[in-house]
Amino acid sequence: MPDAKALPEIGLDEAREELSKLETLLRKADREYHSGAHPGLTDAEYDAEKRRYLELAGRFPALQASASLLDAVGAPPGEGFAKVKHSQRMLSLSNATDEAGVRDFDESVRKFLGLGADAPLAYVAEPKIDGLSLSLRYENGELQHAATRGDGETGENVTANVREIDDIPKRIDGAPKVLEVRGEAYMSRRDFAELNARQEASGGKTFSNPRNAAAGSLRQLDASVTRSRPLRFFAHAWGEISEPLANAHSGSLDRLGKLGFPTNPLAGKCDGPDDLLRRYGEIAEKRPTLDYDIDGVVYKVDDLALQARLGNRSTSPRWAIAHKFPAELAWTRLVKIEIQVGRTGALSPVARLEPVTVGGAVVSNATLHNEDYIAGRDSAGTTIRDGKDIRVGDFVQVYRAGDVIPKVADVDLSKRPDDASPYAFPECCPECGSAAIREEGDSVRRCTGGLICPAQAVEKLKHFVSRSAFDIEGLGSVQVEQLHGAGWIREPADVFTLEERFGPHGVELERLGKRDGWGEKSAGNLFAAIRERRKIALNRVIFSLGIRHVGEGVASLLATHYGSWDAFQRAMTAAKLDCGSEWEHLMSIDGIGKVAAASLVASFGQEAERKSINRLIGHLEEIEDASPTDAGDSPVAGKTVVFTGTLERMTRAEAKARAESLGAKVSGSVSAKTDLLVAGPGAGSKAKKAAELGVETVDEDAWLALIEGR
Ligand code: IVH
Repeated sequence: MPDAKALPEIGLDEAREELSKLETLLRKADREYHSGAHPGLTDAEYDAEKRRYLELAGRFPALQASASLLDAVGAPPGEGFAKVKHSQRMLSLSNATDEAGVRDFDESVRKFLGLGADAPLAYVAEPKIDGLSLSLRYENGELQHAATRGDGETGENVTANVREIDDIPKRIDGAPKVLEVRGEAYMSRRDFAELNARQEASGGKTFSNPRNAAAGSLRQLDASVTRSRPLRFFAHAWGEISEPLANAHSGSLDRLGKLGFPTNPLAGKCDGPDDLLRRYGEIAEKRPTLDYDIDGVVYKVDDLALQARLGNRSTSPRWAIAHKFPAELAWTRLVKIEIQVGRTGALSPVARLEPVTVGGAVVSNATLHNEDYIAGRDSAGTTIRDGKDIRVGDFVQVYRAGDVIPKVADVDLSKRPDDASPYAFPECCPECGSAAIREEGDSVRRCTGGLICPAQAVEKLKHFVSRSAFDIEGLGSVQVEQLHGAGWIREPADVFTLEERFGPHGVELERLGKRDGWGEKSAGNLFAAIRERRKIALNRVIFSLGIRHVGEGVASLLATHYGSWDAFQRAMTAAKLDCGSEWEHLMSIDGIGKVAAASLVASFGQEAERKSINRLIGHLEEIEDASPTDAGDSPVAGKTVVFTGTLERMTRAEAKARAESLGAKVSGSVSAKTDLLVAGPGAGSKAKKAAELGVETVDEDAWLALIEGR
């Protein structure tokens, strides 16, 4: 983008006005282009206007961030991308970073399936394409729609753009009636270089790597831009499908190839971890010669029946893993250490760096974890980096793996400035001045300011509106900071009174409109997005509370276990640390450990916190009870089941996963709330307790008969 300083002086209001005029002009030109009407602008004029638009948007980020004007270039009037709910979740992959991780994966698969170390087990190894995942839905052979991954549940409808990708067939013959092909859109290295050269010549935005270029090209509201930027596609999986393509992953890839989808030529069958690692070495060796970026090798269990038995964890399948290539490294100067205060009060040191390119992206910040890490120790007190500490002015080695936040790996002591002194970690919160203390056994120093600490409050709010929580469109981190800074939202409940206070009928809309970037339209859109969230799923509400140690997975477990907000809240408020039946109940939930349980009890035990939660709940119209997905009319949906003794036809892990996928809650101990005990040979105290409590007890065969065919 041209140097913004070179632009003549222009005020915010003028900029807003000019951007709005340009937007109208560009949209009109797009409509004319698409309808085949005589264009009012020549290509050169269009490019010049667009450049001016980008210059202004770049110079006034507040306008761009709040109104998404930049994204709107070329948009059909008033529209963004429509949302598409995936008929089957788009999962992500868990990672292995070394040989041990790959062997652990193979072992865990075998253990889950009850296979011995020497039993034959076929895998497929294929390159992990560094692009953008897409789901393409075909019905009766016709491409119906194409969607991005989004948050895994809902993506963006990019059908018009995908129709511009030559690699993707628009019609297929001989396919199942319903077929959702999943794969990766990417840009070849050669096309990427050419695109950047063209962009540079026309003064447009250049991209830092092919992945960003592919994302930027696909997420264009104007499909003609996608057409001018060649994207390609590799199919590597599928979602909903009316009949299987084959009985193995390898056969399914062949079939997808025959249907006209490009599949990666380096994908191949392997017969165990040694073979997988050998193949990894081969693919790594080929990596520099490929015309597309890859960032690892994906291993998948080949047999689809075994895949089905293995099933999924909350966000990733048990039958696949990504073996990532080692992260790229680079050296740069550490300019400053700053402390950020998180939503739980944790003081996190961040290294501000002289910008350096690592793995195709410019890095200027890196996490330093905590004070021990800076001092050269791990949380157990053992030395790391040979005990070298990190100081301001040091020359440090940084690395970046995938989307992970950059980290500092090493320090070059030979380049340390003479006046560099050890870093003194603050003992007071830099935001509110409260004491920052480290509890025994905790590697993190925390601000004790609680709700009075503005940094904690604002981080809690950011968490609250984040994607996996309330996911309020138009209310991102920037807007939360603005509104919090202005004193208009202090806690989550305040989000729901914004409209009443500043809405179309409120006297203060004027004031809101005057904040940088807020116009009547963006405020109206925001209010509509907030209204939409008055109805929300229970797991999202629990996650949104930002309770320490209660991440997405724990929140989902709690939601399925307690079923409704009322039951959950009653239990949390009644539970006492380390004693009583509610505590035991909480601890009996498989997957909830003592740390998370104690944190929940502590949060609900604080009056101020409880009141703040209640205020939020008061604004919600409906908290959707957790109904386990795919449970259908399963006879065990909602039932609490305990397994004990030896299971002979499946492993314990498989039994548990199966039961959960059918909507049952699996508990580790028998109580009055247990509905069913599945007891194998050797069952002892649990069977006895179940008998005393009158809990129904069945053997493994009866259990399998009960869930048969589901
Ligand atoms: S299999 C979960 N195979 O990597 C099963 N994924 O974290 C479906 N990806 O966003 C994914 N190359 O789009 C699979 N050969 C490959 C892949 C691949 C790239 C992407 C995928 C997803 C991410 C997983």
